[in-house]
Amino acid sequence: MKARTPILIALAILVVTGAFALVRQEEKESNLELEPNTFPETMVAPLGLPPIPWPADNPYTREKAYLGKLLYFDKRLSSDGTVACASCHTLNDAFADQHATSIGIEGFVGSRNSPTVINTAYLKLLFWDGRVSSLEEQCKAPIANPHEMSLLDNEHASHMACEQRIQSIPGYRKLFKDAFGDEEVSIDEVTQAIATFERTVLSGNSPYDRYMAGDKTALTAEQIHGIKVFKDAACINCHNGPSFSNGKFTNIGVGMDQEKPDLGRYAITKDKKDWGSFKVPILREVENTYPYMHDGKYWTLEEVVDYYDEGGIANQNLHPLMKPLHLSDDDKRALVGFLKSLSGEGSQHFTPPDKFPE
Ligand code: HEC
Ligand code: HEC
Repeated sequence: MKARTPILIALAILVVTGAFALVRQEEKESNLELEPNTFPETMVAPLGLPPIPWPADNPYTREKAYLGKLLYFDKRLSSDGTVACASCHTLNDAFADQHATSIGIEGFVGSRNSPTVINTAYLKLLFWDGRVSSLEEQCKAPIANPHEMSLLDNEHASHMACEQRIQSIPGYRKLFKDAFGDEEVSIDEVTQAIATFERTVLSGNSPYDRYMAGDKTALTAEQIHGIKVFKDAACINCHNGPSFSNGKFTNIGVGMDQEKPDLGRYAITKDKKDWGSFKVPILREVENTYPYMHDGKYWTLEEVVDYYDEGGIANQNLHPLMKPLHLSDDDKRALVGFLKSLSGEGSQHFTPPDKFPE
């Protein structure tokens, strides 16, 4: 027995150093190298979209976009490590989610439907009630929201805790240095990086865009008829511009049959004209962003079209354009066909990160 001891010790040393080598190898692999080339040197908007409006105080760089993408998908942004932006704005669900209303930290069920992040680069006011005016500002809200990503009931404390968590990860410190010049992590930089990534999440070059650009084969005859119905039924009065939203707030009656309806923009402005008004949503990728409306009530485009056809739910502030449309079944099918022609290209090119900074 005694004679074998040195051999056993030698073996043990071998095993231990082998294990260390393996751990090191893994560390090396999970220690992300900066891969800014996953984002182009300059971002070009796809066909049908205007140039991306980069804010002067947060211009595009691929380092920021890359960092922002990692942060967007990283659950460590939430106080218990269970929720990321991508939990409610999922790549597979066209950057929205498939719940009527979103589910946040500890399973808390929110009161509104998660809108898509696609083409939010072009929105001047964000949220269903337009309460913030930039993606940077918007991003601060869920990180501190005690029903979404934070277990702390205080905005400042939530932001500080988030900064500290990210700051404690060496891999992130390096990426912050590359993107912002130093390793210090601030909440403003976190939100600038995420907003930069969000502005790259686009959808254009849809069959509709190609049709409008001259390819007359890009749409079916039914979809072409759908464009006409979209105009005749006055949809276009509110859903216009490159993302099919005029960016305004209107009351189309959704949810107004509830005992205590969500009053939307009115809660922010206290202006009577905003009573029960919600932001006119983007219609790009609408085929894939169900369920629809601020309360996620409708799961299919057919149901949405029927809602409009019936003239909406009557209430004290219903928009005058909301009245029965008397569409034929063919018109309804064409309208849905047209809406589906707004599914394009851009956002699908993303894949979720397969590893995160350590
Ligand atoms: C728990 C689910 C949840 C999480 C997590 C979440 N969001 Fe949201 N997001 C929502 C809901 C719901 C709304 C709409 C709320 C409202 O209008 O009052 C929204 C709105 C938005 C909007 C506005 C879109 C528009 O059309 O106005 C953007 C942009 C956005 N979120 C990005 C993010 C980012 C970035 C993160 C991570 C920092 C994030 N969200 C985390 C559910 C979530
Ligand atoms: C008076 C302005 C107005 C008109 C006209 C209008 N919409 Fe809307 N649309 C809105 C608003 C506002 C919402 C969001 C309402 C809410 O959630 O409370 C909406 C929501 C939608 C949605 C759901 C999108 C989503 O992501 O949740 C679809 C689809 C849609 N409209 C299509 C149409 C079609 C098709 C027509 C024509 C038949 C039409 N709209 C006419 C203002 C309008």
